[in-house]
Parts: sequence; C-alpha cells; structure tokens
Amino acid sequence: MTNFTCVVGARPNYMKMAPVVAALKGRGIVPALVHTGQHYDESMSAVFFGELGMPKPSRNLGVGSGTHTLQTARVMVAFEEYCQTNQPDLVLVGGDVNSTAAVALVCAKLGIRLGHVESGLRSFDRSMPEEVNRVVTDHLADLLFTTEESANENLMGEGIPDARIHFVGNTMIDSLDRHLETALGKEPWVAHGMKENEYGVVTLHRPSNVDEGSQLEGLMGSLEEISKKLPLIYPVHPRTQKSLEGIGLTVSTNVRFCAPLPYLEFLGLMARARCVLTDSGGIQEETTALGIPCLTIRENTERPVTVRHGTNRLVGVDPENIVRGFQDVLNQEYGENPRPPLWDGHAAERIADVILS
Ligand code: UD1
Repeated sequence: MTNFTCVVGARPNYMKMAPVVAALKGRGIVPALVHTGQHYDESMSAVFFGELGMPKPSRNLGVGSGTHTLQTARVMVAFEEYCQTNQPDLVLVGGDVNSTAAVALVCAKLGIRLGHVESGLRSFDRSMPEEVNRVVTDHLADLLFTTEESANENLMGEGIPDARIHFVGNTMIDSLDRHLETALGKEPWVAHGMKENEYGVVTLHRPSNVDEGSQLEGLMGSLEEISKKLPLIYPVHPRTQKSLEGIGLTVSTNVRFCAPLPYLEFLGLMARARCVLTDSGGIQEETTALGIPCLTIRENTERPVTVRHGTNRLVGVDPENIVRGFQDVLNQEYGENPRPPLWDGHAAERIADVILS
C-alpha cells in the first residue's frame, strides 16, 4: 500500500503538509500532491511551494471561489474523478478548510482510507465554517493525527475509537523550525521600515470579523488606536481587501497595509514583532512556538494549549477590549516558556511512522 495522495487547498494547508510530504519521501515514498485550487492567487498559493521546498502539485483541480456549498461540491466532483483515475490507497488532508471536508466526504464514499493532519481541535462554535469542516473530517477519518492533548480528549468525548487517534505534535511547527533561520536572515522588518521588537503584525480574515462593514470598522478603529503606540504591519487577505474597499477606509500612517506576504517574510516579521494581533488559527500556534505575545481577536479558540501553555490571549472582538489587551501586553514580561508537548519539529516524522507501520 504505497499509492498515497496528499491534498492541499488553501494557504494554511501548505505549511502543515510540506513536512509530511518530506517525511514520507525520506522513507522512500513519493506521494502524489493534489491542489484543489481553493486558493489560486500567486500570493495565496504558488509562492509558498518554492519556499517550503514542496514539489509542485501534480494536479490542480481549479475549483476557485464561490459559496461554501458550491466550493465544497466542486472539490467533491473533481476529487472523485481524480480518485477514480488514480486509485489512491490513502489520502492525507490537513486542517479545517472547505477542501479538507470535501475530500474527506469523497474518500468515505469511495472507501479510501483517510488521514487527517491536525485532528480533534474544537471551538465548540458551529457558526464557524471551519468547526463544521473539522467535525465532518474527523468523523470520516481512519487516522487522526492530533497536535495537542485537548484534541485527544475532544475526539474520545465524541466516541472516536482510541486506536484511530495518534498524538504526534504540530507539523506547522515543523515547518517553522525548518525555516526560521532563513526567515530571520532576510531581516524582513527592514524592508517594512521597522526595527526589531518595535512593531506589531496584524492579520484578520474571519468572515465574522471582516464581512460585515460595521464590525470591520470597529476593529480598524482599535488598530488605529493601538498604532499610536506601536506601528503595525498589516498584510491584507483578499477577503478583507474587498470589505475594506466597501467601507472606504481612510489609511493611517501608522497602520501599514500590504499585500499578503510569502511564508518566510511573514515568519521573519512575526519572530521579531513586539506582538501579533490576529484571528487566524495557525498564527496562535506559531506565536506560541516563537514566544511572541499574541492577541487573538475572537471569542473562542480551538487551540487552548496556546492560551494555557503559550503566549496567546483571547481579547474578543470588542474594540475597547482589544486596546486594553494590547496595553496589558505592553506592561507584561514574557519569560521563556517551554513549548507545548511534542511541538519539537518532528511531528511529520511521527505521522510517516504511523502511516508506514
Ligand atoms: C479560507 C478558509 C479559512 C482559512 C483561510 C486562510 C474555509 C471555510 N476557510 O478562508 O479557514 O483560515 O482560507 O486564508 O475553507 N480569494 C482571492 N484569491 C484567492 C483566494 C480567495 O481573491 O486566492 C478571495 C475570493 O474572493 C474568495 C474570498 O477570498 O471569495 C474568500 O476565499 P475562500 O477560499 O472562500 O475563504 P478564505 O476566507 O480564504
């Protein structure tokens, strides 16, 4: 059984899957790599493959954007056809994007074994599209690879047999460890006109934060306030870009907007930031591994280890609370924390060992 296919679809998938592809290759297995095409802009897709040392996908399903249902359905139709032609024995998916759940459904219907990298995370908020994708994928997967102990508990609580759950650690942190030195060598803060430890980094793209004009306006107000004390670099996601154009934003000189950044540039910026403000899932984990304070602009997190064990703090979506949370960060000393268990740069190797055993 060595006809494996790894699937990626959207930006956060690439850094989770690249180490898995490499670890399988190190054990003599070259999996096929399929890109669903959920993300398609150069800045959201192609730029990452070279940097992460990942082979170019052998197939791009070209599904593009659309409503969640349409996007999911398009991936299903195209991936079923791929499977019928290529007959994979095992398919690996990562994270919680629409492509992940769509591929899981196809595998279940065709009786193909499925491995889920980053299994078991739960925000317990079904209004998040990612939560629905996580639940669906986990309940269809045969091999569930988890990043933190809360995920093991969630899966067992949902009745998933223990034998399917493999606590392996975090492959996103494998990528971080592999590339941090190169990223820092580029000193990306210089090109952005900043000094080490004297700027913040912002990312916002959750539909609940950016799709509605008044919500986004409130958040932009809090960033404006924070930027009076700390200049902010803000790479804008295409989804957010559309909404910002909709509200006709006046640009502050201390919030520096830019296009989405390549992986190494963004990693380098995070690693030397005074703090990061985000609503992303993965960035909560990366800042914990880097020991950089993170303010998460959400009411919940599916990654509680980053709060209990790491540098993450949930500040919610109320602009005043966000500014208050930022003040606290400025006043707080952050010591050296040990990383969460198994975030040691070797998660993908453990995944490859489980698959091959
Ligand atoms: C998706 C994931 C989210 C992940 C995020 C990272 C789901 C449900 N959401 O959200 O979990 O955190 O990716 O970025 O899968 N667009 C472009 N160019 C692109 C891709 C998208 O312009 O390359 C625009 C399109 O107008 C599209 C919108 O961005 O409608 C949103 O893209 P979509 O793939 O639907 O979801 P994301 O918000 O990116």
